[in-house]
Formats: sequence, C-alpha cells, structure tokens
Amino acid sequence: MADTSSLDQLLQQGTSELRLATDEASLRSWQNRWFGKTGEISGALKRIAEIPAADRKDYGQKANAVKETLQKDFDLALEKVREEALEKDLAQGRVDVSLPGRQVLPGRLHPSTKIMRRILGIFGELGFETFTSREIEEDEINFGMLNMPPHHPARDMWDTFHTNKPGWILRTHTTPGQIHAMKLHAPGPVRVVLPGMCYRYENITSRSEIMFHQIDGVAVGESVKLTDLKGTLMAFIHKLFGEKRKIRLRSSYFPFTEPSMEVDMDCIICAGKGCSLCKKTGWLEILGAGMVHPVVLRNGGYDPQRHSGFAFGLGVERIVMLLSGMDDIRHFWANDWRFLNQF
Ligand code: DAH
Repeated sequence: MADTSSLDQLLQQGTSELRLATDEASLRSWQNRWFGKTGEISGALKRIAEIPAADRKDYGQKANAVKETLQKDFDLALEKVREEALEKDLAQGRVDVSLPGRQVLPGRLHPSTKIMRRILGIFGELGFETFTSREIEEDEINFGMLNMPPHHPARDMWDTFHTNKPGWILRTHTTPGQIHAMKLHAPGPVRVVLPGMCYRYENITSRSEIMFHQIDGVAVGESVKLTDLKGTLMAFIHKLFGEKRKIRLRSSYFPFTEPSMEVDMDCIICAGKGCSLCKKTGWLEILGAGMVHPVVLRNGGYDPQRHSGFAFGLGVERIVMLLSGMDDIRHFWANDWRFLNQF
C-alpha cells in the first residue's frame, strides 16, 4: 500500500481553510491558493512522478479524488455565498409594489413662446411671412439705418448693451430686422413679421427687464397706406383679444416712421370704463407703429417716390401679462416651475 496520509492531511487542511472563507473575495483567494498554477493541488499532482512505480497508481487515484472533493466543496461554497448576498440585497432594497407610481412631467412651451407662436400664426393668416434676424447686431443697422445716425438724441430711447467688438451691440429692438428683410426683397413687395429676443441695459423692476421678446412687422409695396396699417392691426387685435375690442391711434414719435403712432386698445377688463389694469384711463397701450420713414425705405433698397410701407412693433411679454393678469415681468426668466406650470 502506498503512503497516502499526506493526501489525507491535505484534504483536511483544504476543507478547514475553505470553511473560513465566508464571502466571494475570500473564496477566490482560497481558489487561487489551492487550484492556482503553483497551488497545493498541482503540487500534489506533480509529486505523482516521484512516487515509486508500485505505489504510483494508488497515490494518483487518491490525489485526483482529493482534487475532485475540494473542487466540489468550493463550487458549493461559492453558490451558497452568492445566494446569501442576493438575499441580503433583496431584503435591503425591497420594492413596495403597492406604492403609487412616480409622476412623469412632460416638458411644455414657455408662456412667451406660446403667445409668440399664436401672434405669428395670426399674422400668417393675414399674409405675413415670419423672418428672423440676428440678436447681435451692427450699431449701424440697429440705429443708423433706422434714421438715427451716431449722436442722434433718439438713441437715448434705447439703453444699449455693447460688445467688445466695436460697432456690434445686442439689438435693442427687432426693428433692424426690417432692414435685412427689405434688402432681401427690394424692389419687390415685402410683408413680414420679425420675432425675437431684445436686450436693454435697464434696471430690472416689476415693469422692465433687460431681455424680452418683440415682434416687429413691416409691409412695403407700391401703394401701402395708413388705412392698411389700421386694418391690419384691427384684424390682429380682434383675433387675439376678441371681436369686441376697439383701437385708438395716438400720435407719437419714432425716428424710423413718419407719421408715428401709439396703438391703444380699450381695456379688456373694464371695456373703457376705467379700472386698475388700465389705470383708470380705459385704454391699454398695445404697440408702436407708423408709416416707414423715407430714409428707412431708401436704406432698405426702395425708392420712396414709388414705394411706401407701414411698420409696427410690440412687446410679447407685455401681451402675455395682459392676457394672464400678471403684474411682474420678472417671473418670465426666473424659471420658477410654479409660475411656468400655470400656463
Ligand atoms: N422698435 C420700437 C421700440 O422698441 C417699437 C416700434 C415702433 C417698432 C414703431 C416699429 C414701429 O416697427 O413702426 O420701442
């Protein structure tokens, strides 16, 4: 009989060491020590060659039996440790299927975007194309081409953000877009609305912001008249605020129109009787407008002897405020979900 007591000892040692490994990491290091290339098991198998031929068979069988037993024990231990870990995991992160689901909040359009699209839609029905132009604008187009050469006092009507590139500013109104649109269409007719963000170097208060949307409009052709302007604006106001609304034109001044006017609408709350919204006047100021100044027509590529045009400009947030009864323009860019959610 071959002496296989060393193998019995090996089995005993392997088994008791295995018992000490209680998680996957320690099991793996056990596996490495016993079944790795230079591990105990391969050592025992290599020794077969040194055993005297007569005993070699017995020794070899026994060594392989030890290997198999330890492998089986290891597999079982690994499975057990994994099951335990899974159970612990499930117990910790238990899912209560009776809880109500989490609400999915869909995105929505900003109130300004909504009203802007509605206004552009109305002008679309009236035959106006939408034309967008740049927010960073040349001083020369924002002011100069609009009949305000450098040092013209009317420039003070628009407090301006300058850029570090001389001659380039943040547009203070959407009116310079009129020049771009005219130049593109002249000498043919043009009828466009120009939406976009404008910027002014203002104190932020409940009534004034440093950024806001405007929509300008311009129509130029061979015989565009003031009555066309009035008809267009009446149609627009009836579509946006209802058929009952009346409008009133008040003489005003803008450098790029002549004559210029302020367009008022009878108050949507008191219909002209006087209330807090209209500050007891019965009227709400809606937009600025006028007949395109001959200088501006010429700058746009038209001959003022042959062509004429009307133009207008309105503040989008002002309209949203009127329609929704808001009293503070600062809500628009505060990004407060409680405000946005109301639209
Ligand atoms: N650009 C003017 C402003 O920002 C508004 C305006 C008035 C636009 C009359 C026009 C216009 O096109 O004809 O206050």
